[in-house]
Amino acid sequence: MNCHKLTGPAQLLAIVVLTGAVAVAQPRAGGPPPGNIASLKTALLPKPTNLAQYVRNETALVALGKALFWDAQVGSDGQTACATCHFHAGADHRLQNQLASPAGVTTALTGNRTMKADDFPFRRLANPNNNNSAVIRDTRLVAGSAGVVHRTFFDVNAGLHTDDGATVSSAAPTSLAGLELRQVTNRNSPSVINAVFNVRNFWDGRASRIFSGSTPFGDSDTGLTVLVNSANGLQPERVRMDNASLASQAVGPALNAIEMSYNGRKWPKLGRKMLSLRPLGRQKVATDDSVLGEMANPEGNGLRGEYGYQQLIEQAFQPEYWGGGQIVDASGSILKAAAAASNSNEFRQIEYNFALFFGLAIQAYESTLISDQTRLDQFLEGNTQALTALEQQGLAEFGGGGSQCTVCHAGPELTTASYTRAAAPNVNPGDPNDLGFFRIGVSPISEDLGLGGQDGFNAPLLLPNRPGAADGTFKTPGLRNVELTGPYFHNGGQATLEQVMDFYSRQGDFGGANLGPGIGNIRLNAAERTQVVAFLMALTDDRVKYERAPFDHPALCIPVGHVETEPGVPALDDSSPVTSMSALDRWALIPASGKGGNAVPLQTFDELLRGIGNDGTRAHTLTESCQP
Ligand code: HEC
Ligand code: HEC
Repeated sequence: MNCHKLTGPAQLLAIVVLTGAVAVAQPRAGGPPPGNIASLKTALLPKPTNLAQYVRNETALVALGKALFWDAQVGSDGQTACATCHFHAGADHRLQNQLASPAGVTTALTGNRTMKADDFPFRRLANPNNNNSAVIRDTRLVAGSAGVVHRTFFDVNAGLHTDDGATVSSAAPTSLAGLELRQVTNRNSPSVINAVFNVRNFWDGRASRIFSGSTPFGDSDTGLTVLVNSANGLQPERVRMDNASLASQAVGPALNAIEMSYNGRKWPKLGRKMLSLRPLGRQKVATDDSVLGEMANPEGNGLRGEYGYQQLIEQAFQPEYWGGGQIVDASGSILKAAAAASNSNEFRQIEYNFALFFGLAIQAYESTLISDQTRLDQFLEGNTQALTALEQQGLAEFGGGGSQCTVCHAGPELTTASYTRAAAPNVNPGDPNDLGFFRIGVSPISEDLGLGGQDGFNAPLLLPNRPGAADGTFKTPGLRNVELTGPYFHNGGQATLEQVMDFYSRQGDFGGANLGPGIGNIRLNAAERTQVVAFLMALTDDRVKYERAPFDHPALCIPVGHVETEPGVPALDDSSPVTSMSALDRWALIPASGKGGNAVPLQTFDELLRGIGNDGTRAHTLTESCQP
């Protein structure tokens, strides 16, 4: 079967038939579920190849990964963790200073703005069911995630959580009334939960399934990225690990000058800093944390003294990758035999190889974040009571010809960007649709090329490349816990699932060439939309909703916009020379949860917009302040 030559309805059929050959559906009353939807427990889970070459203890690896993911000291400002943008059902849940414009687009955007319910959807039409109707307003915004203030990196300080650097002055919207704001990503944060099932990660798939030990870009990165210790001393070595997209992904943000880093920081420097600090040293860890509890420091913050990053790395990794005594420079050349580093540009092997440890550890932790106990999963495993009649109608509708949802959201993962799908016969790697990437008119192609773009080495993201074929296609997200992960789409332009249904009913926001195969003929009446939304709400795993193990976590203080002394005038952060010219942050506490989770459910994005649950009936309402 040669899918990519077909167009229109024939192609739809081809995809449906092809996915039909893949997964083993669970038997249930009323015949097999549509689109090969099955319990997530039946999904093909990737196992990184040649892991044992580097790793000797996978339990220790998960603990190291959880500490690194939640540790705000990883950020150059000592205040920004991976979890800062992935703390809420694996995604972001902040309202203020979260707006950006797509690359190359100028918007009437004010930095530090607080999103309001009325801002959504970003593109508002006279008739929400007709994408040719008059445009009432289109703000061309992206609801992204606030990272760090734009600063130049000077050096790390051993024993200190903050790096040395200098604030760089910029233009609006990153600056407001002369003060620098935290920069905002120009795509929305997807959830890290179930991301392990994605063959490639990021909306545009640029986190390769091949891990190079240093960058997200897989085989484009041919460098000898690590040092291995042998009888002849330290030798440079190439890393090439398949089924490891999450490791590729993880080595991106930590040095990224928008997300976590001052501009110019390198891995050995970050290694030196983290190895000198107590893991999670400024954050509370619950003594009943499902992974870190036994190591937690009951008297204060972080882990106990005997669980430093050095010890965690030594426990998890093979000694060939950290035990060498020689000292190297920033490019791995040997400077001297066993000795102490005598200046800030001399490194130990364990510092030099830090990207390898960081990527593999975070991948191992994220691989435990699997939400396979939703009511849909229970239903598909044979508990016919798990879904209400309305939700079962929604399931049928989700797989029906009127909705076409399972053309793209198919299989146990509810996305075809999965390993289950990739294992099917005749998958064409040069066909974006076969890879689970589709063009559905969320934004004009010209604004964001998605999989049609290039990686950090200027190689096309789609290989073998067919120019134009992947332009404007984005990874189909799996939909579990979607109730909790708004706003939706790569631009964060829809606040509610009802708005998403309107989007599909009008065949996307941008028609014509901005639409690809698989979308364009969706027909859903009001009753059917209600059914589908009910079905989407049944995709929540209670362990995610109440932050029970494995979704429990350390405390984290997150920046939620900047303090303004009067509207449009931020206050200055005069706490240190590094923060000169920078706006003062507002902070909100995400309290630590132990393995038993919280008493109240997570707040949805729509509830956040409307202030629902601020009375203590929801978790993560961002109403309790903290000091990072
Ligand atoms: C400043 C906010 C921010 C920080 C900090 C951050 N991320 Fe993200 N993350 C994002 C955004 C935005 C995306 C989507 C970007 C894209 O697709 O281009 C993303 C995407 C991801 C994805 C891909 C999920 C998918 O379905 O494709 C994973 C996994 C992830 N991040 C993990 C991490 C890890 C691990 C760290 C720390 C090393 C981290 N993030 C730090 C904002 C952030
Ligand atoms: C042609 C493929 C295709 C079809 C058909 C399709 N989707 Fe999607 N869906 C996608 C892609 C691709 C995205 C991400 C698009 C983007 O952000 O640019 C997405 C995103 C979503 C999201 C947002 C998830 C998030 O985390 O942001 C939801 C919810 C969703 N789809 C539900 C549905 C439902 C319900 C249907 C059926 C009415 C449907 N989809 C039909 C491909 C498809």
